[in-house]
Amino acid sequence: MKREDIVDITSTRPGTPGGRFMRQFWLAVHRSEDLAKGHAKPIRILSENYTLYRGESGRAQVLDYRCPHRGAQLHLGWVEGDALRCLYHGWKFDCSGQCVEMPAEDANFARKVAAKSYPTREHMGLVFAYFGDGEAPAWPPYPAPSQEGVIHCWNVETVPCNWLQCYENTADEVHVAFVHRPGGSHAKLAADLPVITAEETDWGMLRHGTRSDGKVRDTLHYMPNATRVIVPPLAGFDGVGGWQEIYFNFTPIDDESHLWLITSHVKVTGAEAERFLAKKAGFLEKVRSAPKVMDLVQDVWAGRRRLVDIEHPELAMVQDIAVQAGQGRIADRANERLGRSDAAIIVWRKILARELAAIAEGRPTKKWRPPPREVAPTLGF
Ligand code: FES
Ligand SMILES: [Fe+2]
Repeated sequence: MKREDIVDITSTRPGTPGGRFMRQFWLAVHRSEDLAKGHAKPIRILSENYTLYRGESGRAQVLDYRCPHRGAQLHLGWVEGDALRCLYHGWKFDCSGQCVEMPAEDANFARKVAAKSYPTREHMGLVFAYFGDGEAPAWPPYPAPSQEGVIHCWNVETVPCNWLQCYENTADEVHVAFVHRPGGSHAKLAADLPVITAEETDWGMLRHGTRSDGKVRDTLHYMPNATRVIVPPLAGFDGVGGWQEIYFNFTPIDDESHLWLITSHVKVTGAEAERFLAKKAGFLEKVRSAPKVMDLVQDVWAGRRRLVDIEHPELAMVQDIAVQAGQGRIADRANERLGRSDAAIIVWRKILARELAAIAEGRPTKKWRPPPREVAPTLGF
């Protein structure tokens, strides 16, 4: 029996091997620009609810979902300074979760009560949190490119399937030639199908796509849920910004849905950066007046429209989500026929299965190292 059959490599619910594994890492949970100062909102990550808020100093913080008094939702409350006051009876909690005020209680009761607080930090336009026990791992979870540039965070999508199938897709370069053929944005990557190989590293997996001329395209897969790759100029940007480095973060909401938190580093400065930002403003305007990505995906799934006929500023997202979430809420891995082009997916599953089996059996897991700055993805042609 294969290891993958012994442990469920898709579940991240609390208490499952996958859930315990995922909780050992910093996870991207939100786009920074979508969290204004003084705002609090509910988030659901790894099948658990939390409160995310931004204090008046600009600091983002994750706390428990419910107030320890009588369980009101904390995001209903008020942000005061960097603290959050529960709307129900006014108990006030600081960033560490410590209760610092209880208007209707004895003065010494507050110091005995705390909400749970989770280490929270920001990197490359995304909010990250750590949900595990003990000290959070090294920061940042992965390095930004060393050259100057603009950080561009994509619109966040909630994708109705398990996180692992979209993660696996980022290890599947062959899909690009087919899924993204309509629209032509990825034509350069599709000209010559690469031979895929992959190797486990101290920090995750390094994948190579070797083309017939011998040139190699490297992509980095950071434990546990991020992929760093160089991608073509964005559709709708008319080539402005050129090929950019993208970091895909696939964060489970629960076992049947997850977030696409995608941030990128665009190698432009000065006047070129201004041109990029102007293009971006025009692009976002087009997205605002276009149909919602998931509405189009539903149309395609129902057979009301053909994927090849769709025009949309975020066409690549429609294509990817239609195919990957279309595999089912949790793809059936027992009945696949993997080929040699699936080599990287196989390596990744073996790593996950090995680590999760160790957790399930109470054995030590691998000590993952912070990803090194000097290992970067390559274009490969
Ligand atoms: S439930 Fe929050 S203060 Fe009472
Ligand atoms: Fe894709």
